Amino acid sequence: MQKQDKPAHGMWASRWVFILAATGSAVGLGNIWRFPYITGEYGGGAFVLLYLACIAVMGVPIMIAEVMLGRRGGLSPIHSMKKLATDNKVTRRWAVIGYLGALSGFLILSFYSTVASWALYYAWEALQGVFQGISAADSQAHYQAMQANPWLMLGMHTLFMVLTMGVVAMGVKKGLERAVEILMPLLFVLLIVLIGYAATTSGFAQGVDFLFAFDFSKLSGQAVLDALGQAFFTLSLGMGAIMAYGAYMPRELRDKKSGQTRSVSIVSSVVIIAALDTLVALGAGLAIFPLLFTGGLEPAQGPGMMFVTLPLAFGQMPGGLLFGTLFFVLVVCAAWTSSISLGEPMVAWLVERGMRRWLASLLVGLAAWLLGVGSVLSFNVWKDYTFLGGSFFDNIELLSTSIMLPLGGLLIAIFAGWIMKETQVRKELGMKSFVLYMVWRAMVRIVAPLGVLAILIGFLTGALD
Ligand code: PFF
Repeated sequence: MQKQDKPAHGMWASRWVFILAATGSAVGLGNIWRFPYITGEYGGGAFVLLYLACIAVMGVPIMIAEVMLGRRGGLSPIHSMKKLATDNKVTRRWAVIGYLGALSGFLILSFYSTVASWALYYAWEALQGVFQGISAADSQAHYQAMQANPWLMLGMHTLFMVLTMGVVAMGVKKGLERAVEILMPLLFVLLIVLIGYAATTSGFAQGVDFLFAFDFSKLSGQAVLDALGQAFFTLSLGMGAIMAYGAYMPRELRDKKSGQTRSVSIVSSVVIIAALDTLVALGAGLAIFPLLFTGGLEPAQGPGMMFVTLPLAFGQMPGGLLFGTLFFVLVVCAAWTSSISLGEPMVAWLVERGMRRWLASLLVGLAAWLLGVGSVLSFNVWKDYTFLGGSFFDNIELLSTSIMLPLGGLLIAIFAGWIMKETQVRKELGMKSFVLYMVWRAMVRIVAPLGVLAILIGFLTGALD
């Protein structure tokens, strides 16, 4: 067993804290507003099977690779990749994986904060009963009025950024670890309560049917691409968040009762994270669709569903004030634990270069906030300025999630599968079964890169149509 260097940022207290933190990164807006809808659209249970296959052959293998690189490197993704390149006697240009990741995390953080801050505002409004008895037209007008108000949006964006970078500034133990230990159990409890509530509504059976009834005729090439893209985004792959979290994962932990040390397995942890992420995504569908069907509303995806249709449904139901508030608190928890993982890689890099953590968090937060102002303004003041057919917000989102993330994931798979010495890989993974190891190796060398290439090519050819 290789000796662990003195950790630069602190270590997770246990394997479960790592699992919670990585699940916190994975479970986010993508699980709540995208997965349930594409599942319903593409034939329910048939799509769930396809999606699970994408998670198994691409998501899990790349996530294992990312955690493995992080734990082996022990530092921020940029410095970990430099170290691994030197150890493996290849060019230090491989650090591009770290730079690309830190940059895409920063770009995603800037617009993720804009949307998360709407949920923050809606939680506050739901609590005040703003949506009680609201009409469809008023719900639409309410959403538009919020977007048309740059000062309100800037205020909420600022608040969310302070919440995010405040946690990052407090460090791995006192910040990230404490936040996920509180927010993740809260998220699970809220989700269960909301599913329980949905189960009492008359549209429950229809909601379950929409999500799970098998209809293979609705699967298409586009469904495969969407399943691949969703599997990738939802697991937070390709941008170093998971690599940074892997660096804080100990190799061995002492069992408190027996006093013996046990190695901490990457593979089983990743399987649990992927399973929890999928369960939350399905659970979100179970909590949302019955409410829409009960209210006689059409299922939809994205901001429109979350900020127009759902408030309308909550406004009509008994108990809607309480459960509507809980729903938006759930969304804020999910987005918050994702956004801290977006800021951490760049902050960790600056800390390793000698900057104090609070200052690094302030600078990264300020820069992401400033870029986010562009996203905020693209809904009002800059509404009429478009570039390549999209707003500032649209373009930052496309560049980061559809181009930079898959590119990062491709390079990670190539480095772990083709460049890194096999002895190192085997040692770090410590997999007992040779057969399973060979299966992972085949996935990460061939299948996963092909999956990621399909996402990239699918996007580029679709975007150029
Ligand atoms: N996994 C998050 C979601 O599904 O919303 C998004 C995300 C968070 C992507 C963190 C990448 C990341 F590093």
